Amino acid sequence: MIELAPSILSANFARLAEDVQAVVEGGATLLHVDVMDGHFVPNITIGPPVVASLRKATKLPLDVHLMIENPDQYVSAFADAGADWISVHQEACIHLHRTLDHIRGQGMNAGVVINPATPVQLLEEVLDMVDHVLVMSVNPGFGGQKFIPNALAKVRKLAMMRTARNANFRIEIDGGIGEETIAEAVLAGVEVLVAGNAVFGHGDPRENSQRLLKLAREANLQKV
Ligand code: DX5
Ligand code: ZN
Repeated sequence: MIELAPSILSANFARLAEDVQAVVEGGATLLHVDVMDGHFVPNITIGPPVVASLRKATKLPLDVHLMIENPDQYVSAFADAGADWISVHQEACIHLHRTLDHIRGQGMNAGVVINPATPVQLLEEVLDMVDHVLVMSVNPGFGGQKFIPNALAKVRKLAMMRTARNANFRIEIDGGIGEETIAEAVLAGVEVLVAGNAVFGHGDPRENSQRLLKLAREANLQKV
């Protein structure tokens, strides 16, 4: 199933509930929440209190993308706040297997994220224990950056690895997704599309979501 996960990073933080309502009306079925600590990435955003407030404001599953050092230490806080999915960076986890186990143990969907410079092969040993793999198509830290096309080759490789081992993780992409890039991402094998700037950066988030989803669904029908 194709899903659009608007990233609230580009939303109006003073009117979050309204922006969330708009994307729900536009067809979004997941909400992407970017957590940055100023260490793993050169930017600081939000933490568990905002996730807890969002939990009260919407029924949409919350897809929490942790761009932080020592993510293990914070998994429980995000679980308590109401996160449904938690993704941790391969590059941030010394004991990735343990961290993913920890996330699943708290009843959440567990995902692993890779930066543009990280090869998909490094995920080989965890592909059977994740619910989703998030491929970064920009270097994490900021919204509104330019799509890095090499991410598409990584998505194709991951889809092949999934078939080869009969696994069933979903493939998500994050960064630079918009009207020009969404179709090729879907054609490469992406099922969960994160978009920040393209949804909230201009115009009406409801219409932007509708338009992006339409393009994604049309591309999905073209897949053989
Ligand atoms: C970047 C974040 C993204 C970001 C995407 O570090 O992980 O989720 O919000 O923003 P756009 O869609 O504007 O590239
Ligand atoms: Zn993200």
